[in-house]
Amino acid sequence: MLAAVHKVPFLDLKKQYHQIRDEVLKVTEEVFESNAFSGGPYVEKFEKNFADYCGTSYAMGVNNGTTALQLAMLALGVGPGDEIIVPANTFIATAWGASHVGATPVFVDCDPDTWEIDPARIEERITDRTKVIAGVHLYGQPFDVAAVKAVADKNGLFMVEDAAQAHGARYNGTRIGGFGEMACFSFYPGKNLGAYGEAGGLTTNNKAYYDHIQSLRNHGCQVRYYHDEIGYNMRMDGLQGAILDIKLRYIDGWNARRQQIARMYQQGITHTGVKMQRQPDFAESVYHLFVVTVEDREDFMKYLNDNNVFPGLHYPVPCHLQKAYAHLNYQRGDFPNAEYLADHCVSLPMFAELSDDEVNYVIEVINRY
Ligand SMILES: Cc1ncc(COP(=O)(O)O)c(C=O)c1O
Repeated sequence: MLAAVHKVPFLDLKKQYHQIRDEVLKVTEEVFESNAFSGGPYVEKFEKNFADYCGTSYAMGVNNGTTALQLAMLALGVGPGDEIIVPANTFIATAWGASHVGATPVFVDCDPDTWEIDPARIEERITDRTKVIAGVHLYGQPFDVAAVKAVADKNGLFMVEDAAQAHGARYNGTRIGGFGEMACFSFYPGKNLGAYGEAGGLTTNNKAYYDHIQSLRNHGCQVRYYHDEIGYNMRMDGLQGAILDIKLRYIDGWNARRQQIARMYQQGITHTGVKMQRQPDFAESVYHLFVVTVEDREDFMKYLNDNNVFPGLHYPVPCHLQKAYAHLNYQRGDFPNAEYLADHCVSLPMFAELSDDEVNYVIEVINRY
């Protein structure tokens, strides 16, 4: 008999909110009373604590993860005519990091088993215009940092980490965020560390990048109303800084629960048609997503829905086949591993507040497929 579970959603943010509701409402009142709406002390406190958490010298709060990528490229001096190496299988915003500064994303296929950027395929995509390799810690699992960094160093390129999905993940025992020139985080509400609105951030060990981004995100000012360069308004809201600082105290517990759920899926799902992301020894994932592949996705998704399990899709179209990049003239077949993943991926329910009963129910339903 299947355990009696009503409905297992892909994600439910309400349960987490109810856990921290009193603290959130209290700090909201404090932010409003102190009028610390944009930047300010709550953001600065979060930045300090987030830098400590990531083990980096600096952290900067900004308005979302996409602008974090844009700011990283600006700080590296990337602009029109330059090329940025980007995995073909990522959320499109990694590629926006290049496009939003007038540069061109140059896509690379992923490893067929880890689904992370394949370091062995990068070099063939490098030209004399390449400036940066943007590695993505996809689904919360660190990419092969040492191998990608070796390619970057050999070719005189910068490496940037897109850490939008991987707050707290570890590579060879060290938290990600300090391996590249900069790491870019998203605090979109559904992320492992999610704001209650839009927010993003960067970490770095380099003071020059830190100083430059502080200015760029604030209209190119260091002294108010004196604009040293063309800048942007990409500051973090005070309220988001305050809420993220509360959530930062819980993130390790939430990530540990995600890891526990992942282990239940890994050990419990025995259906031979369901494949999972290979996890190399160097990678400790925080399972932002738990993605599997199946041969007939449409049929599998319908079956799950009929059994009250509601999965997600990350992502149905690889970056190189998106309409937005049609002008780059990529074809189906260019990156077969990324294309296979896009055609066959299914994201199982994954959030820290899932109960054991719910997880066991998903496992049972899948095993009966
Ligand atoms: C890999 C990746 N990069 C960048 C982003 C962009 O972050 P945001 O949605 O905060 O702009 C996201 C988030 O959706 C992401 O998953």
